[in-house]
Amino acid sequence: MKDLATTEYSIVAVQKVNTLNSSYFILETDALKSTPCPGQFYLLKSKEKEQGLHIPISIYHSTDEALKFMVKIVGEGTNELAKLKIGEGLRLLGPLGNSFPIAEHKNVLLISGGIGYAPLFYLKEKLERLNNLTIWLHGGRSKDDVFPADKIYTEDGSVGVKGLVTDSILEIIEKEAIDTVYCCGPKGMMKHISKLLEPSNVELYVSLEEYMACGLGSCMGCAVAINTKLGRVYKTVCNDGPIFEAKGVIWDE
Ligand SMILES: Cc1cc2nc3c(=O)[nH]c(=O)nc-3n(C[C@H](O)[C@H](O)[C@H](O)COP(=O)(O)OP(=O)(O)OC[C@H]3O[C@@H](n4cnc5c(N)ncnc54)[C@H](O)[C@@H]3O)c2cc1C
Ligand code: FES
Repeated sequence: MKDLATTEYSIVAVQKVNTLNSSYFILETDALKSTPCPGQFYLLKSKEKEQGLHIPISIYHSTDEALKFMVKIVGEGTNELAKLKIGEGLRLLGPLGNSFPIAEHKNVLLISGGIGYAPLFYLKEKLERLNNLTIWLHGGRSKDDVFPADKIYTEDGSVGVKGLVTDSILEIIEKEAIDTVYCCGPKGMMKHISKLLEPSNVELYVSLEEYMACGLGSCMGCAVAINTKLGRVYKTVCNDGPIFEAKGVIWDE
């Protein structure tokens, strides 16, 4: 275990890189001293490139022994992460951002799309410890984008139900008497769920994603418009978020 200074990167060693398929892998590193909460993220940076971009990645799992990140390879930075070898050093800054409010003794629905699976995995563990009944719906384009969940959807029908993860949520919410929904995935998916649930009393929390520069709440590079009692305000995804109650989010800004 290592000490973490909040604005300084810590160097950890890679313990394992578990390739799930050609696009996704799980990166396991040494644990840091502070315990992260579900929904928080770290900025990851290669040990060699001090000036290189830092990559925001959610906590997939955390124990006293190891931190785990689930990563989708999309560009240069995530490709670099995929090439890390056991024992190699990595710079980590965090845990950053806020976290999902954890319900207790409730019926909760988790909805993820693609790499949106990552933060919900850790969240589900915490929710079940607090006696919540969980149902997890996960969707992706095809079989490579899906991971274990209670119900799987793929757009091409290669695994699970053919269709979108949003197709039957209203029926499930009613049938299972869902109190709270947690959601992470593409913006369009979260916006659609938010509109579907607008007329209901079901609580909905979404994890927003924006490009990040400083990652520390000082540049406003990741600002999103939120409706509050005081009117429209701008909040940062990196510091005020990434978790927001969906009813406040102004999706079309
Ligand atoms: C709070 C937060 C948590 C995240 N958690 C995870 C996680 O757990 N696992 C994971 O794999 N990824 C996660 N991401 C996304 C991840 O940070 C980006 O995929 C990564 O920065 C891409 O870097 P790159 O250099 O590989 O790709 P780039 O070369 O920067 O981009 C490659 C492609 O991805 C798109 N892209 C890159 N970053 C983003 C972004 N933030 N939003 C939308 N599109 C983007 C670009 O438009 C481009 O098409 C998270 C992002 C945020 C903000
Ligand atoms: S990235 Fe600078 S404020 Fe969020």
